[in-house]
Amino acid sequence: MNTVTIPAYAKLNLTLDILGIRSDGYHELDMVMQAVSLHDDVTLTTGTRAPWMLTCEDSKGTPLAGIPCDEKNLAWKAAQIFFRAANLPDPGVKLHIVKRIPEQAGLAGGSADAAAVLRGLNRLYGEPFGTEALCNLGAKCGSDVPFCILGGTARVKGRGEVLSPTPLDTVQHYVICKPDFGISTPKLFALSDQYPAQAHPDPEKLLTHLRADDKQSAGPLLCNVLEPVAAMEHPQILSIREELLAAGACGARMTGSGSAVFGLFPDESGAKQAEIRLKCNEYSVFYACSV
Ligand code: C5P
Repeated sequence: MNTVTIPAYAKLNLTLDILGIRSDGYHELDMVMQAVSLHDDVTLTTGTRAPWMLTCEDSKGTPLAGIPCDEKNLAWKAAQIFFRAANLPDPGVKLHIVKRIPEQAGLAGGSADAAAVLRGLNRLYGEPFGTEALCNLGAKCGSDVPFCILGGTARVKGRGEVLSPTPLDTVQHYVICKPDFGISTPKLFALSDQYPAQAHPDPEKLLTHLRADDKQSAGPLLCNVLEPVAAMEHPQILSIREELLAAGACGARMTGSGSAVFGLFPDESGAKQAEIRLKCNEYSVFYACSV
């Protein structure tokens, strides 16, 4: 048997713009995505010669109910896609996921796990796929999976599969708040069709300020056209933003289709102080830096 453990990093949308609706029903997007240190751990064991198995627990070792432990789980689906594409016989696979990334948060938790499975299997089998081919396999699992394979900072277009790495060489410090409700991605995208965006992001300007490590100028340029639409049903998103700004964030926005909201802080100590200050019963709070 062969085993590997791969960290599955969450993502933030520093910007998210919708350019239109595609003929396949998906939305044409233009985003700046950032991988952050908040992560699940995905352990893959191949060669079990037994029926496939998937287990999930939280960071305290408590088994997680409610997360599908079969082919409905993106991580399982990713492994199926890998073996089919590599034309390899089924060796028997065991997947174990230690989950820290909250679900239905816009943090790409499930997609990050799927990406970790693809990267892990690719490593165990001697790298049969290059990064681009692996990202193409990832796109078959879900729109956020290609970015989760690439990591770092990237301008992401199309459905999520057109990636241009935009390395920053600076470190950003974030506090992420996840309210106790989740948001359905397909429902929010469908609702957004009725409410065209009033303000659009300027991704290049944001990246320029982040490269210059000018967080005060970058903060107000964080922008997500899905945020006002989500806030119509969940005004708490706006109050969490206000709390992050009052706690010292240079800017704060919902990530992806929510419901998590993140703040960009001037430095690590400011972010960690805000993390302590913001801890409450209404939402979970996480410190994370760019990776
Ligand atoms: O690709 P994925 O399965 O993660 O997408 C989930 C849902 O989000 C899609 O079924 C679609 O409703 C919506 N979506 C979209 N446009 C995108 C990405 C996702 O409309 N670019």
